[in-house]
Amino acid sequence: MQDNWIRVAEARKAESAGRDCEVRGWVRTRRDSKGGFSFIEVNDGSCLGNIQVVAPGELDNYADEVQKLTAGCSVVVAGKLVESPAKGQATELQATSLRVLGWADPETYPLQKKRHSFEKLREWAHLRTRTNTLSAVMRTRNQISQSIHNFFHENGFFYTHTPIITASDCEGAGEMFRVTTLDLDMLAKSGGPVKFEYDFFEKPAYLTVSGQLNGETYATALGRIYTFGPTFRAENSNTSRHLAEFWMVEPEAAFFDLADDMRLAEDFLKRIFTDCLNHCDEDMQFFDQRIQPGVIDQIRSVVERPFAHMTYTEAIKILETCDARFDYPISWGTDLQAEHERYLTEVHVKGPVILTDYPSSIKPFYMRVSDDGKTVAAMDVLVPGVGEIIGGSQREERLDVLTSRMTEAGLNEEDYWWYIDLRRFGTVPHAGFGLGLERAVQYVTGMSNIRDVIPFPRTPGNADF
Ligand code: 4AD
Ligand code: MG
Repeated sequence: MQDNWIRVAEARKAESAGRDCEVRGWVRTRRDSKGGFSFIEVNDGSCLGNIQVVAPGELDNYADEVQKLTAGCSVVVAGKLVESPAKGQATELQATSLRVLGWADPETYPLQKKRHSFEKLREWAHLRTRTNTLSAVMRTRNQISQSIHNFFHENGFFYTHTPIITASDCEGAGEMFRVTTLDLDMLAKSGGPVKFEYDFFEKPAYLTVSGQLNGETYATALGRIYTFGPTFRAENSNTSRHLAEFWMVEPEAAFFDLADDMRLAEDFLKRIFTDCLNHCDEDMQFFDQRIQPGVIDQIRSVVERPFAHMTYTEAIKILETCDARFDYPISWGTDLQAEHERYLTEVHVKGPVILTDYPSSIKPFYMRVSDDGKTVAAMDVLVPGVGEIIGGSQREERLDVLTSRMTEAGLNEEDYWWYIDLRRFGTVPHAGFGLGLERAVQYVTGMSNIRDVIPFPRTPGNADF
């Protein structure tokens, strides 16, 4: 690395004025002055802002190259940083040399100065991170990921890598992508039954929907763990908050009950939000001005106040008796739809709410059955705009209750023998939850579509890039 090469984020700081340095990045705009020199805005992704390069007419390649620069060209600029007389920037770079690394034909480079819709930008997912919005989102996504690791590391949770390929359906919803090396063309031709003994794993295998079951085995050995990795759901949901491939962080802690789990979830979210306010100031200002006015105040007020709590039964009463009209009817025993979650968070509570004690009939087999026999020790964290951001529970630690729940769910005990063993040998109360990373990024940035907060979205009918 050249000694005096600095990132634009550093070059833009007032205290950098006076430094001789080199900046490397991509041209956003060029403007030629009547005085015989040019202003070139260069961005290198290190921050939202560009460095303004002042390229004098005396440069050897001024007429041949500098005056031909357009959006997207890559350049290396050397020169001296000086205080800028212009508004909105502390410094600018007086170029002594400008080298073009790569040209970008303005006839074919898609990201011209005009604004494109987010839908259009998805067609150029390989280039869209060169725009202000997408780069701000991806830096914020990075911050959230870092905060997740920091929070758990500081609280004694060990980062555990759980498998991506699995034979179990953790959520029991049957929304799994199959993993196979069987020759599907041959199978289709022969029309015969599928013989999984000839498949790679010698039994049906899938991409995981959750690392939780494996996570529980580690929590009952290391005490506190978290997994953080990609998860996959083959649900045919074309909504602004569903992806077929998304990242989930799942802490799991031995000797935690539901109350401990909820406290952990609240502290965890508040830590992430605080870090974004403190470390992504420029990007957050951008979201506040351009994406969702008021998002900074919203996040700030969430950090300052305790989360609201409500049981599922209370929530149903509120929804049944309120004035709002819903497309989906709601009564005790039905799952909440997005419109119900929005009513509770946006109209009733006006902030995040933790819903607890759901009917056992609408929740997976592993959740702990409560004394009433009808509900389970579940908790979902709902937030305005996004809806469910976290789903978690205390786990069923009683062997007999767990196995009878599995039977009810139609699961084969033999397939889960290792999971059941945790209740046979030194069973303990334990709890955990899952946060969808993309939904957290949506909430913090105010981005309305989940496809715009993950680098390359996978959704029904779309696995491009
Ligand atoms: O509520 P879910 O299904 O819970 C679990 O998978 C548990 N095993 C977690 C646990 O207790 N360890 O999913 C957890 C979170 C949801 O609250 C949501 O934020 C996110 O994952 N999520 C999705 N995000 C994007 N696209 C999808 N299709 C999602 N499905 C769930
Ligand atoms: Mg859920």
